[in-house]
Amino acid sequence: MKTAGQKPYLKVNYSYLSRQFAEIDPILEGIRELVKSGDFTLGKPVVEFEQKFASLLGARHAVGVGSGTDALFLTLKAVGVGPGDEVVTAANTFVATAGAIETAGAKIVFVDCDEKSVIDVEKIEAAITRKTKAILPVHWAGQPADMTKILAIAKKHKLTVVEDACQAIDAAIDGKRCGTFGIGGCFSLHPLKNLNVWGDGGVIITDDETLRDRLRLLRNHGMSDRDSYAFFAYNSRLDSLQAVVGNHLIKDTKWITDSRIKNAERLDAALGRLKGKVVLSPRSKNERHVYHLYQFFAEDRDALLAYLRERGVGAKVHYPVPLHLQPAAKPLGYKKGDFPVAEAQAARILTLPVHQHLTDEELEHIIRCVEDFYS
Ligand SMILES: Cc1ncc(COP(=O)(O)O)c(C=O)c1O
Repeated sequence: MKTAGQKPYLKVNYSYLSRQFAEIDPILEGIRELVKSGDFTLGKPVVEFEQKFASLLGARHAVGVGSGTDALFLTLKAVGVGPGDEVVTAANTFVATAGAIETAGAKIVFVDCDEKSVIDVEKIEAAITRKTKAILPVHWAGQPADMTKILAIAKKHKLTVVEDACQAIDAAIDGKRCGTFGIGGCFSLHPLKNLNVWGDGGVIITDDETLRDRLRLLRNHGMSDRDSYAFFAYNSRLDSLQAVVGNHLIKDTKWITDSRIKNAERLDAALGRLKGKVVLSPRSKNERHVYHLYQFFAEDRDALLAYLRERGVGAKVHYPVPLHLQPAAKPLGYKKGDFPVAEAQAARILTLPVHQHLTDEELEHIIRCVEDFYS
């Protein structure tokens, strides 16, 4: 324990937003221009952001929407998912993945995750029924799901694949970006995502023109023009103001990705020495994990979490209870033991700060605290 007279612990925040947006003048200048133009809804900055986003990830089209959750929900709607259908996804994801399936009117079907915390491709087929319409893999934490196997299963059972890439901008398998494997890839621009804006925002990428056109209608009241409505729909447009922020930041994506990978490699090297206490997920050379979250499995996780927090390290748990055991999942009829890997991981998983603005001193402090705890 820290005694009187000792230096206070270095504070290593989980959030890095004050550093990321320390230089806001260029963004404010863009917003000044936006206000002058009055181009507030689906304006020029949105079109510019969509073009930049698609080109960054090697997709033909991008459609900006109100959030990552809307990106998922609207894409499911657009590919025809609705009441009576089932959608297969991972049990260890963020609640929004499941929420989007439910909001689309379909039944959520969970599958366990594997040792990398992505959907276990060996268990997908057992979850497929005559009602299954789509597979919704999640590139959890920025770690690509096994898209080769998922696409093969989808082809065999004639299913649509929509990717939840909300945590995985710039992640890739053999250089091909996550979000470009299925018919649509869904991203979040939430303030804590690797590429973030000043509130909510989301994007879908696709090579499919029909999907692009349907999403453009779905996000904007079904309006084909001001006075014609193709169908009744939603209002979920990427805000022009958020697009201004995104346009400013998107050029830094490579630096953000590289910095997070570099930080994760240092954490891996240090934590990898704590054998028996700490388990790291296997890392695949052909996959680019972009470390939206740096996670590992810790012995005595809750005590380590408290120890780190006392020493100023903003560690977190994503998440302590998997979705199938949440009150929201009660109507689905799952029980404890149904997804043993997700359940075991939830009890041991811990997230450390890994963001692009960490200093060497902060990284060393995180590492020292974990080492001290186990020594
Ligand atoms: C895996 C996953 N899916 C979906 C979402 C939803 O994104 P948003 O918060 O932008 O609605 C998030 C992020 O919060 C997420 O982490």
